[in-house]
Amino acid sequence: MQKNTLQTAAKIAHRLGARDPYSEDHAQRVSWYARRLASRLHLPENEVEDIRMAGLLHDIGKIRFSSKVFRNVKEHPSKAILKQIKKHPEMGKTLLEGQGFPPKVIDYVYSHHERENGTGYPRGITGERIPLGAKIIGIADTFDALITDRPYQKRRSLQEAFLVLRKLSVSSFDPVLVETFITEITINGL
Ligand SMILES: [Fe+2]
Repeated sequence: MQKNTLQTAAKIAHRLGARDPYSEDHAQRVSWYARRLASRLHLPENEVEDIRMAGLLHDIGKIRFSSKVFRNVKEHPSKAILKQIKKHPEMGKTLLEGQGFPPKVIDYVYSHHERENGTGYPRGITGERIPLGAKIIGIADTFDALITDRPYQKRRSLQEAFLVLRKLSVSSFDPVLVETFITEITINGL
């Protein structure tokens, strides 16, 4: 069952890749980093697997974006496009429901842009109310965005990326999770 679900997840993730290759590679890396942070936290194996799968699917809602959003990578997005982008966690949740995924996986996808101080979306929930798996994916997601080249932003060095994550842990991320993540990357590399 778990294996089949993971295969379904990979297939769905691949469909997004057909529209936007960067997104699929990014999803693979986020899944990899998130799984390693979950393991380092000694979470139970089934929880680690749920987080790994949710990492793979975290941006799947983007598959419903209009082509305009994918093309619009060089400039700062307009208000209308930003509004559409911010809907992707909800779109992901809707897309995954009823397909046999564990409810936790769907919840992590839905909540991966929530932030500790409530400035995230879609619900603006805070601290304890944000599921741990979603917090882990949020850190892995931000880290990968920092260390890869994007059309509008040059990649940062590892040390710079760690600095940004530490700064964000004052407001957006759980400091213990950030430090555990930095330890994992420092010891085992990317
Ligand atoms: Fe996202």
